[in-house]
Amino acid sequence: MSFRTTRTTSAVDYVEDVSPGSGALPPRAWYASSDATSYSLNGSWRFRLSATADAQDDSFAGEGYDCASWAEVTVPGHWVLQGDGAFGAPIYTNVLYPFPVDPPHVPTENPTGDHLRVFDLPSDWPSDGGAVLRFDGVESCARVWLNGTDIGEFKGSRLAHEFAVGHLLKPSGNVLAVRVHQWSAGSYLEDQDQWWLPGIFRDVTLLHRPAGGAGDFFVHASYDHTGGEGTLRVDSDVDGRVLVPALDIDVATGEAVTVAVEPWSAESPRLYDGELVTEGERVPLRIGFRTVALEDGLIKVNGKAILFKGVNRHEWHPERGRTLDLSTMREDVLLMKRHNINAVRTSHYPPHPAFLDLCDEYGLWVIDECDLETHGFGEQQWRDNPVDDDRWTPALLDRAARMVERDKNHPSIVFWSLGNEAGTGRGLTAMAEWIHGRDSSRLVHYEGDWSCRDTDVYSRMYASHEEAEQIGKDLDGGPHKRRELPFIQCEYAHAMGNGPGGLADYQELFETHDRLQGGFVWEWIDHGVAHPELGYAYGGDFGEELHDGNFVCDGLVFPDRTPSPGLLEFKKVIEPVRIQGDGADGTVRVTNAYDFADLSALAFEWAYQVDGETVEAGALSVPPLAPGESAEVKLPQAPAPARGGSETAWTVRALLAADTAWAPKGHIVAWGQVPVTARPVPSVSPTGRPALDGDRITLGPASFDARTGALRTIGGIAVENPRLDVWRAPTDNDDGTEWKSGINYSALWRALGLHRMRHRLDSVEAGEDALTVRTRVAPAAQEVGLGTVYRWTSDGERLRLTVSVSPEGEWKVPLPRLGVRLGLTGADRVTWFGGGPGEAYPDTRLASMVGRWESTVDGLQTPYVRPQENGARADVRWVELGGLRIEGDPEFFFGARRWTTEQLDAATHRTDLTAGETVWVHLDHGVHGVGTQSCGPGPLPRYHLLAEPAEFSFVFSVSDSPTQ
Ligand code: GAL
Repeated sequence: MSFRTTRTTSAVDYVEDVSPGSGALPPRAWYASSDATSYSLNGSWRFRLSATADAQDDSFAGEGYDCASWAEVTVPGHWVLQGDGAFGAPIYTNVLYPFPVDPPHVPTENPTGDHLRVFDLPSDWPSDGGAVLRFDGVESCARVWLNGTDIGEFKGSRLAHEFAVGHLLKPSGNVLAVRVHQWSAGSYLEDQDQWWLPGIFRDVTLLHRPAGGAGDFFVHASYDHTGGEGTLRVDSDVDGRVLVPALDIDVATGEAVTVAVEPWSAESPRLYDGELVTEGERVPLRIGFRTVALEDGLIKVNGKAILFKGVNRHEWHPERGRTLDLSTMREDVLLMKRHNINAVRTSHYPPHPAFLDLCDEYGLWVIDECDLETHGFGEQQWRDNPVDDDRWTPALLDRAARMVERDKNHPSIVFWSLGNEAGTGRGLTAMAEWIHGRDSSRLVHYEGDWSCRDTDVYSRMYASHEEAEQIGKDLDGGPHKRRELPFIQCEYAHAMGNGPGGLADYQELFETHDRLQGGFVWEWIDHGVAHPELGYAYGGDFGEELHDGNFVCDGLVFPDRTPSPGLLEFKKVIEPVRIQGDGADGTVRVTNAYDFADLSALAFEWAYQVDGETVEAGALSVPPLAPGESAEVKLPQAPAPARGGSETAWTVRALLAADTAWAPKGHIVAWGQVPVTARPVPSVSPTGRPALDGDRITLGPASFDARTGALRTIGGIAVENPRLDVWRAPTDNDDGTEWKSGINYSALWRALGLHRMRHRLDSVEAGEDALTVRTRVAPAAQEVGLGTVYRWTSDGERLRLTVSVSPEGEWKVPLPRLGVRLGLTGADRVTWFGGGPGEAYPDTRLASMVGRWESTVDGLQTPYVRPQENGARADVRWVELGGLRIEGDPEFFFGARRWTTEQLDAATHRTDLTAGETVWVHLDHGVHGVGTQSCGPGPLPRYHLLAEPAEFSFVFSVSDSPTQ
């Protein structure tokens, strides 16, 4: 006897079917009814995991099935993040599909989660009308049964799917069965750079549909800036009336009405509460009047060109993955608003709909992006790309429609985006045509086709400053259509690890050239997965066979949403008020950089600082400038400096004058500093003489090893000898390869051996008034080196070290850092006068405010998910720690940590770092820029630290501040 099983006869054929599915209702607007009942099916569900799609039959879906032996999972949720590893693990890949590319087939090993929920209808569930079962997000493919009836199957993970189920419901004992497959044909369309996380990860809701209830509706609310009037028309499948009490509007659906209104913008998100009233239902409306247009080659809203100061937002929570609750969504929006961000691209799929409500309410411009990416086909020169294959077009159109129909009533959305990194093809054109036809009130975005065939904007990712400038000047050429279009960077400034560098330089270009309408930093949040041993896990930590490491941790906020220094820098770079001046003439120049708002919501304050400490402060009166306007504002009479020879400066801040929905009164929106008198350079008259005392040389407060010239103590405080240091634990950007030049700094540095420099002692010379130690610092196997002379002098109390560095040989690479490293024991508290409070590097230093700051050594560390160079404070005049005061001539970069650079370099997770006894202190004359080449361009040449002759000094003395 012989037999044969073929996959074509399988009951799970739908998994590999390119069609979007069957049984679901047509997509419609997502809304919460005022009066129709709904019932959340979120909560604990019974769960059974199978290794393949067809391991189990569908008997579990029938009534009376005994699931007592099954596990439980929380819905919404991803099963791989539940069950303590019993349900598989997350997989992280950026571009690569984690399965063989053979569309539409998926592996036989296809984790399949059967979900069961038995429920009674609430006692007040109306007996009339129908009901709809709504899934807001299931990855990647689901088949659904209610009370044993197969009601359909669907794909499109981050899109809503509804099923009519009224006829199947009973008062009690309803059995809802959902079979979810991790892999499906749909997975080919969902190759976004993120964790692959199967599950019912968004809400499941049962909605009562009353007779005569609303169906789908489309709120059209435009604004005519020339006359200050808004026109409202609500098209509705079910006739009814539209009420907007504040505007005295009471019109029939389908009828347009024009009245004087306040427009909606991201800066002033004026929403009018309204209602759609049909025979059987009342639906709340939140109406924002605004008109989006492409005019004069610019993106205009309400007649004005806008500038996107945006971020790319993936949905992420370190414990729950892409399952976000409302408070987490609100936290994202509040954090964005508080950091001057005015726009979000929902990379790379429509978010939970509640997030868009928040964008309407608090004010953010939104690019709503479709759930589509086929990046992995790029690995095979885009052969078989589904977006260029007619068989897939229905699925693409389904996705476009599900996005547009669900989200069309949000005033915050100004662009529809076709998807991300899906190559080019007819399917995209079909999507764009459909969207343009359905909604002419918004523009269409897609980055992957530089001909701009289907789009209303020329969009790119990670274009260099140089290229952006060319485009800004219209010198980039390109097809005719593209030349007529405005330009945005839908992604730029890759916020992976320490960085992104160069934000300020980009912003300057965006503000100089009209055609450059801003951009969206990549990205909002690090997708670290909370992990008991590793702190936060990233790619590879779950044993994936293919993965992209910590490339998934590239956000402006850490996984727990703590702002990273990159976010603070971005806030400063994009601040909507510019405060500048040179202090000499007693004025500051204040410029309104908003697109719509005047400055009346802000209050201004001045502070006068002597040596970084505020000695006087007061209110500053600034006229309510219109957007784009500037004024020279007179500062008060400068107080006489408290003591002679001090450094003095003004700091002017713009704060919220009253509480807003997103921040309290007093929240700082913008600031500027204006120096008045410069710092006196620390001087030490060399009166002390080096004296030999046994195996020691003493000089002023210091003692040295007589044989090596190494510093041992200052004023009795043990010091691990300061010596030249050029190495830093490479940042994610140092490890990246610059797009244009192909340069990878950390590879060059390691090849040269900068991480293993040797110090050769040439001489120890005790002279009349100085101890001079001559050395040569160089790596094995290379002829290059750094002649390094340490010259110590003292006036009896203070000790000055002057380091002179002379590069020898041909240095072809910039240095990671140039400074000295020393060790101290017993140091904890740190106070300094200089840039702070956070870290700063040459191309990330705008947010660094000069003042007096304090911290602990641990507080100086920036907890990047993958440990790397961090924590430098810029422009430091002096620092006190471990009983010492160290002054710089000139100002320096300062950092301190309880582990060495070598340990930092070797660590892969924060938990690898253990504190030692010694605090390693870095006093750097220079550091190399950070750049953004973990994806994109490197640091601009002006931020390179070239190996050049250099001389710099530090003055050490015993401080009176406590060390602990
Ligand atoms: C882009 C892509 C993003 C992300 C980023 C790098 O190419 O659109 O999804 O992968 O690069 O982090």
